[in-house]
Amino acid sequence: MALIDRINPHIKTIQISDIRKFDMEVSKIPDIIKLTLGEPDFTTPEHVKQAGVAAINENVTRYSEMNGFFELRKAAANFIKEKYNISYNPKTEIIATVGATEALSATLFTILEPGDKVLVPMPIYPGYLPLIAMAGATPILLDASNNGFVLTPEHIDEAMKKHSKKVKAIILNYPSNPTGVTYLRKEIFKLANTLQKYEIFVISDEIYSELTYEETHVSFGEYLFNQTIVINGLSKSHAMTGWRIGFTFAPEKFTQEILKAHQYLVTTTSSISQKAAIEALTKGMNDAVAMRKEYQKRRDFVYQEMGKLNFEIARPAGAFYIFAKIPQGHLQNSFAFCHDLAVRGKVALIPGSAFGEAGESYVRVSYAADMEKLVKAMTRLKGYML
Ligand SMILES: Cc1ncc(COP(=O)(O)O)c(C=O)c1O
Repeated sequence: MALIDRINPHIKTIQISDIRKFDMEVSKIPDIIKLTLGEPDFTTPEHVKQAGVAAINENVTRYSEMNGFFELRKAAANFIKEKYNISYNPKTEIIATVGATEALSATLFTILEPGDKVLVPMPIYPGYLPLIAMAGATPILLDASNNGFVLTPEHIDEAMKKHSKKVKAIILNYPSNPTGVTYLRKEIFKLANTLQKYEIFVISDEIYSELTYEETHVSFGEYLFNQTIVINGLSKSHAMTGWRIGFTFAPEKFTQEILKAHQYLVTTTSSISQKAAIEALTKGMNDAVAMRKEYQKRRDFVYQEMGKLNFEIARPAGAFYIFAKIPQGHLQNSFAFCHDLAVRGKVALIPGSAFGEAGESYVRVSYAADMEKLVKAMTRLKGYML
């Protein structure tokens, strides 16, 4: 047996994300307009950057506490309290992580054992399934496309009836990547009521919580504190993807366990980034407001233009994505459609199938791009569709 064949089979089954692969492929097309990646096009606010520079100059270059500087955890607790009216103790219930990604991996590796099952609503951000696989667990995919991509208590009850004891957790993500759909207070109330019947963890990825356009975000932790691990971070709210700051918010007894996984995965997150994050969560508490207004304008524009071209869209109320059903009369295989559109129409969108089978015959548009680019992209899309 060759050594390479002895590698962990769970890793062998994982592929590099289709989003990255597709993006790399279309990047080779000259003059392409890409609305592909899920990353803010804004730069990190100047005062936050300066806090990072000051941290370097002041030699804040050593390890911090494992769970992050206390000042940062306090700032995160205040931010969450002020914005979403929910209290987490910064001493015992918050961990600063390496982006939301490490918050997710530390959480999943803490909770999951081989053979466990995890409920995952589809279509879904492609970051979760590989982590579930690495932990030796398997996902139970819940297709919520029959309800405008909003999961209902019935979806959960049905899955629990079928898989019952093996289910260890459910992952929620709202506002959603890729659909932009978010849950209203009454929907969260109903879901929480259902989930509290079952002894399962709720991992609520709320990384887009500052980017909701009509309604203020409601955290799942507010309704089901004792079962929930809330994941959040600064990547989207403060255009800080490269700084790698995320958080877990969870009851003390869960946090203590997640902290062990966090320590042995990464020790702690960057001290320099943490100093910038303190600035972002205190003096920059409302930095997302201007960006949100701009995203909203773009959303309205893209939603309207794609609607005119007969794309069917569940109204996106948050994040910076539009998930649109390809109109009849066009290629229905989302990869074939996106490929053809990129080559002939010079606009790159992400095939819906990158987010699971439930996303087939859809495309994801990321409107984290300036208006000029969006106008040009929509003109090209129109030229291609008509
Ligand atoms: C739903 C969702 N969760 C988590 C992440 C990862 O966030 P971070 O860059 O903070 O690791 C992303 C990034 O695109 C995302 O869309």
